[in-house]
Amino acid sequence: MTNPVEISYVAHEAAPIGGAGGAAAVFVRADGALGAAAAAANAASGGAVARLVASKGFRNKPGDAAVLAFPSGLAAERLVVAALGETAADARRAGAAAAVKLGAGAAVLYGDGDAATQAEIAFGAALRLYDFDTYKTKRENGDNGGAPRKLTFATDAPEAVARLSGPMAAVAEGVFFTRDLVNEPANILTTDDYAARLAAMGELGLEVEILGEPELEKLGMRCLLAVGHGSANETKLVVMRWRGGGDEAPLALVGKGVIFDTGGVSIKPAAGMEEMTMDMGGSGVVAGVMRTLALRKAKANVVGVVGLVENMLSERAMRPGDILRSMKGDTVEVISTDAEGRLVLCDALWWTQEHVKPCAIIDFATLTGAVIVALGHHNAGVFSPDDALADGILNACKAVGEGAWRLPLGEAYDKQLKSRLADMKNVGGRQAGAITAAQFLKRFVRDDMPWAHIDIAGVALSPADTDFAPKGATGWGVRAIDRLIADRYET
Ligand code: BES
Ligand code: MN
Ligand code: ZN
Repeated sequence: MTNPVEISYVAHEAAPIGGAGGAAAVFVRADGALGAAAAAANAASGGAVARLVASKGFRNKPGDAAVLAFPSGLAAERLVVAALGETAADARRAGAAAAVKLGAGAAVLYGDGDAATQAEIAFGAALRLYDFDTYKTKRENGDNGGAPRKLTFATDAPEAVARLSGPMAAVAEGVFFTRDLVNEPANILTTDDYAARLAAMGELGLEVEILGEPELEKLGMRCLLAVGHGSANETKLVVMRWRGGGDEAPLALVGKGVIFDTGGVSIKPAAGMEEMTMDMGGSGVVAGVMRTLALRKAKANVVGVVGLVENMLSERAMRPGDILRSMKGDTVEVISTDAEGRLVLCDALWWTQEHVKPCAIIDFATLTGAVIVALGHHNAGVFSPDDALADGILNACKAVGEGAWRLPLGEAYDKQLKSRLADMKNVGGRQAGAITAAQFLKRFVRDDMPWAHIDIAGVALSPADTDFAPKGATGWGVRAIDRLIADRYET
């Protein structure tokens, strides 16, 4: 997997700002005062840092950073000056903004603020320096940019910052795991390969169970199986268990893992179809959270369940008009084979509810284009009949800075799923597409089971660089759900 940048924490004296070559980053505080390293750099450069900070172009807003190239008096080739802001979230953004301007060579980041603030700076830097280069073969020639592989973090409190960074590193690794899965193409990340990557997390203390087509057949998961019927890749349900709590019922996380979505017989337009390698994004969030929980040895019981399947065309593919019997027993008329995510999740949700007997279920899916129309790429859509669960999710998202917005459910939307021939159809028409998709899922969760559905179609992949990720897979949700678990489910 793509490993987070290796950060070594050293005392300021061990890496004096005047002598460090390569790139260096320093911080300006919210009140305009220069941090210790920034002040030292300013003195060595005859006031260049202060002039930069006083210039019109520098706004001193967290997320802002400017570069002094070949500053005289310093050995560094580039000095990055970044706005630190005031809050922990500001510091995280500052670290990310500074890190991304460092370039690919040797780099020293000079922390500022208390140890907790400095750990946030390092965390932000680690998240932003993600670089998926598995398939770039020309990196050696200086092609394609790239991110530093190693970062020196100079600080007045190396031990404290390193200690506080430990759990954050576990989160960063979970986020990177998710991003890698989402970025991988479907010819590499087959259902077999995906299941193997999840099984490998057994080494971290997760119990991983893989159900293949014969088992799914026995369980009656005909909706999930129908989605994969046209593909040469075997449909699988993978269950990951983390038992870090006591005897309490686990929290269940369920994910849509469509490794590629052609739309099936209701085929998608060719333009942009390559993005459908990200249609396993929901399962990716589940996998990333499970990895983080294991790495930081969370004191909680959590079960992750993902349906891994490929939506292809072939003479075996499901057709529009087919009627499927779900594991629950309800029948579904397939109107569009492209509304496959809900067919994956309905059986995965029912299985989870009946076999895991969780205290609550949260599902994640790149489920609808409609949620992108509603919320763009800035917010995931959160659906839940349970106010407490919805608030918990929204608060956790807010705390870590991952966009989320609650959308409604309701009887009136459910009516749009009425089928002439079966218990329901798999699409609810053009209007409120993200909501009718959620209503479909709701039919597969008992009323007394706290449940939330998160549609991440807009946020799993970003069309542009974000604060904490380059263009592409974001790992949206790993930090928020890890936070939710830490706040609400750990003993
Ligand atoms: N995987 C797509 C949703 C999607 C669209 C994710 C764009 C990411 C970006 C999903 O399976 C799908 O095709 N949904 C259809 C549903 C429709 C047929 C009711 C859609 O949104 O068009
Ligand atoms: Mn689809
Ligand atoms: Zn899909």
